[in-house]
Amino acid sequence: MQFTIAISVFSILFSINVGLNIDEYVKEIDKLSLNETFVEEYYKWSFDLFSQPDYLYGEKMNFPCNPSLGDNKTTATSVHQLRPSDVKVIGALGDSLTAALGAHAITIAGLLVENRGLSWSIGGDHNFNKVMSLPNIVKQYTPNLKGYSTKFSISFLNGQNSSNNGLNVAKSGGRSYHMLNQAQMLIDRIKADKTYDFNNDWKVVTFFVGGNDLCDFCVDTNMHTPEEFTGYVRDALDLLHASLPRTFVNLVLVLDIR
Ligand SMILES: *[C@@H]1O[C@H](CO)[C@@H](O)[C@H](O)[C@H]1NC(C)=O
Ligand SMILES: *[C@@H]1O[C@H](CO)[C@@H](O)[C@H](O)[C@H]1NC(C)=O
Ligand SMILES: *[C@@H]1O[C@H](CO)[C@@H](O)[C@H](O)[C@H]1NC(C)=O
Repeated sequence: MQFTIAISVFSILFSINVGLNIDEYVKEIDKLSLNETFVEEYYKWSFDLFSQPDYLYGEKMNFPCNPSLGDNKTTATSVHQLRPSDVKVIGALGDSLTAALGAHAITIAGLLVENRGLSWSIGGDHNFNKVMSLPNIVKQYTPNLKGYSTKFSISFLNGQNSSNNGLNVAKSGGRSYHMLNQAQMLIDRIKADKTYDFNNDWKVVTFFVGGNDLCDFCVDTNMHTPEEFTGYVRDALDLLHASLPRTFVNLVLVLDIR
């Protein structure tokens, strides 16, 4: 079974590579992404591969901190008192780096899948031992943490709204000017779902965008100036600040590329 999938992945790639042409490649990937059997089998195959104990993730280790140390029975009332055990809800906005596009890819066909359950900022598959993500670390302190993503979605479809996605409103291809919209979507989603206590749950929201903005810079140098970028990010931050009570926004800076 695994062997068959490997063969089909490689034969498909080989046939794509023969005519190495980006349009054809995108068309082929599009076609493949519609084949649910293929995507499901590919996902299982790569998941099994990456689940081998020493593949990529290395040796098991014990959690290096004592989760009950410094525990405080009183819930923080200010962000300055916030402890990991206060955090009840986790969310994220951004682009493919937050959607975990191709996080388990070992061939280019892996770009069919957003491995949202493995995302560094919002993925909650397995535990910290296998997937060292922010939710899996916080889960050591708050076992009933809510909002993290599990499993996967198909790239460029409705991953933002897929059922296992939780509060991961990131979308592959996202740019700074999409963040206001994502912030609104996040706020609406927390409000609409009674799983979350909008007013009382402490929320950690990781905000990371900019890779695609940088790639676009040369295309329109006026539209992608640092001022435009910071303006869009500020608008989204202002909305989060005005609308979400008890929230710690974890703003991750755009990569410094020179
Ligand atoms: C879909 O994928 C499966 C599994 O790889 C394959 O057997 C089948 O032929 C594919 N279907 C189409 C229409 O390409
Ligand atoms: C526990 O939290 C409360 C409110 O956040 C704070 O006033 C108090 O100092 C904390 N206690 C300890 C031991 O940190
Ligand atoms: C997800 O749902 C929202 C409405 O709740 C919609 O605005 C958005 O376009 C949807 N996203 C995708 C990728 O389908």
